[in-house]
Amino acid sequence: MLNLAAPTGPDWTGRALADVGELLLDHAHCEKKAAGMAVQLLFRYPQHGFLLVPLSSLAREELMHFEQVLERMSARGVAFRSQRPSPYAGRLKQQVRSEEPQRLTDTLLCCALIEARSCERFQLLANAVVDDELAGFYRGLLASEARHHRIYVELACNLAPEDAIRQRLVELAAIEAEILAEAPPWCRMHT
Ligand SMILES: [Fe+2]
Ligand SMILES: [Fe+2]
Repeated sequence: MLNLAAPTGPDWTGRALADVGELLLDHAHCEKKAAGMAVQLLFRYPQHGFLLVPLSSLAREELMHFEQVLERMSARGVAFRSQRPSPYAGRLKQQVRSEEPQRLTDTLLCCALIEARSCERFQLLANAVVDDELAGFYRGLLASEARHHRIYVELACNLAPEDAIRQRLVELAAIEAEILAEAPPWCRMHT
């Protein structure tokens, strides 16, 4: 159960696979940012013991994914470099309320939605990509991202009653779908 408000539109997969090098580069950035976000939360909230082990282990897993994407880039002669990011994650994070504990709740739920969207898209890529090795890679990743989605939602449930968390997740999911509908038509994981 990914809690997404709207499925990815029909034109995304073709656009994403039109330039596999560009997509892999964006994917590498996404994995690195996912690890960075988890580590940042460990530093920002040392008082919340419930975050420590789940986020530390999630960050390690994301860095492993980062290395796995780098390997596939290198096999295709694609160099790691900076790249203009999709406005998606930045716009989603603008929804985070500024007071605690809502700030942490919303941050965890935004992370949960990013993981859910990645999971949905890895499935689309796995079904569409011609390269069998890459299809298998995407299939492996989607299981991790579904698990990461659940972990982030469960962590948020430490901060408020589950009903309230679910309600906020529905609100943020609707905004996430709107942000994607307005995203520029670039070749990225989240456009
Ligand atoms: Fe990942
Ligand atoms: Fe993840």
